[in-house]
Amino acid sequence: MEVENKISVIDFGGQYAHLITKRVRHLGVYADIIHPDISVEELGHPGGIILSGGPSSVYSEDAPPFNKELLDTGIPTLGLCYGMQLMAYLLNGEVRRLTRREYGRAELTVIQESPLFKRIGKREQVWMSHGDSVVNPPEGFSVTGKSDDCPVAAIADERRRMYGLQFHPEVKDTPCGDTILQNFISLCSLEKNWSMESYIEEKMNEIRVRVGNRNVFLLVSGGVDSTVTFTLLNEALGEDRVLGLHIDNGCMRKNESEGVKTALDKLGFHNLHIVDRTDDFLRAVEGITDPQEKRKAIGDEFIYVKDRELEALDLDPDGWLLGQGTLYPDIIESGGSRHADVIKTHHNRTDMIKEMVAKGLVVEPLDQLYKDEVREVGERLGLPHDLVWRHPFPGPGLGVRVLCGNGNESTTDYSSIGLQVEQKTRKSGYNSLVIPVKSVGVQGDSRTYAHPAAVEGELDWEKLELLSTDITNEIDGINRVIYKIGGGVLKPLQSKPATLTKDRLNLIREADYLAMQVLREHRLYEQIFQMPVVLIPVSTDGEKECVVIRPLESSDVMTARFYRMPKESVREIAGRILALGQIDYVFYDVTNKPPGTFEWE
Ligand code: XMP
Repeated sequence: MEVENKISVIDFGGQYAHLITKRVRHLGVYADIIHPDISVEELGHPGGIILSGGPSSVYSEDAPPFNKELLDTGIPTLGLCYGMQLMAYLLNGEVRRLTRREYGRAELTVIQESPLFKRIGKREQVWMSHGDSVVNPPEGFSVTGKSDDCPVAAIADERRRMYGLQFHPEVKDTPCGDTILQNFISLCSLEKNWSMESYIEEKMNEIRVRVGNRNVFLLVSGGVDSTVTFTLLNEALGEDRVLGLHIDNGCMRKNESEGVKTALDKLGFHNLHIVDRTDDFLRAVEGITDPQEKRKAIGDEFIYVKDRELEALDLDPDGWLLGQGTLYPDIIESGGSRHADVIKTHHNRTDMIKEMVAKGLVVEPLDQLYKDEVREVGERLGLPHDLVWRHPFPGPGLGVRVLCGNGNESTTDYSSIGLQVEQKTRKSGYNSLVIPVKSVGVQGDSRTYAHPAAVEGELDWEKLELLSTDITNEIDGINRVIYKIGGGVLKPLQSKPATLTKDRLNLIREADYLAMQVLREHRLYEQIFQMPVVLIPVSTDGEKECVVIRPLESSDVMTARFYRMPKESVREIAGRILALGQIDYVFYDVTNKPPGTFEWE
């Protein structure tokens, strides 16, 4: 039997499954993704198996069907989060729901030496996101690590080379994660022979074969993903067979469309058209208040506009495929992997696009990659630094940063939540309020749609992070914490009816512009991964609205920590936004991901 030089990652639908393959590839070993019900024959002979996390509980009826024989192959196996729980449960250990769930940062204490923990410290920061836990490991396993809230955070059966970790070594917020994965690769005796150059080569060939004698039409927002895709397609097929279209959907940043044109002109591309379709998009979202519906409406409108433009350009629709700069997280977060929960539908994964994908009409050369990998491809293709390091900007743009609602949210409906929040914040010396809007979050791999809690008090990032983690872990119904950085004394806020209008877009466009200006002036732009600026329809007097800034540190968008901005910059941003005159309060989102997603919708 010949062992293949790869690791197979079994995908239980976790938001992190693909991230594991990426990390392993980054460490120089090819990794692929397989389904949990694969037969032993189909599995072949990978050098190692990693069982991913996932949204299920081992006790739930909808848990993905798993072929238990995969645990008897003798192949070294590492179970992560749900993967660890499943392994322990199937090998007759005990798994239970903990009273205290654990989301976010935790500290691992190594309590027994293991080859998996070579070269890591006795105490290490790790990232957790779970409700269930192993309470008794199976026979043959010993407990090798614990955290404050999780007495069985790591288990090992060194004889069978089977390991389980309750935390996620694949996310950057587990700084020792790469070392642990490297140790697993060594345990599997695998050779390091995968690289990004070979990947780019392979993708170019794949594009040529997929496209055949047809051409590709691509929507170019001007962000990193679409620009890298456009460049890759141009290099693989030549300028004559690629056509880029930049659509101004009315939800762009201030001066963005002109900026895109200038940047791509400078790069020497002559195959890019620019059209302004603001009115079409505003018509498509008219009256919509539900965030998922709004995303779908914007996503579908992109396709209608694209079809109309194709017609106007008189291009034969059969001769032109649709190119997209879709990244892997867009797919996984839209529920694209077989068992993943739908967190939010990204504009490039609406039902209409999924149908086109199924018919083979879409080319997405970056669909296996994460943001940091795309930047690496961009640099290798010779794109300028400023372009490669632009903050990511979502396809629906400011459209998902202008929250809408029917104004019916009443704080009296959740006064008990308010009391629970207050009990916690009082202890830490902060005032608090529950905000009468809802935003999207992700907890334990599932989508949440819940209220933010607003706090007022001392600007101490450490304290605020602890408070935010405590509130979102403990109080059902709260998935975010925001901290007041501008406005008067915090007073109760009322929700008001609001939809996506030109005026509200103009207001957030201006606030976003001012906030970004401060980041550039204070040389913070490149230290921050992304900073959504969000308009929420709540006010003290029914007239004004509130703005939330959400600066984040992340490398792969699957997890993130809120950025701790210097106080002067915080003050400056709040001051400039308040000077617009239409804003009651400016808040700073102090929620990590999980439990809060980047965007509020
Ligand atoms: P979330 O909100 O899911 O965001 O934590 C993760 C990253 O994805 C971006 N994002 C989108 N990008 N179309 C996109 O192209 C979308 O519909 C979309 N929704 C979120 C978000 O800005 C962040 O970088």
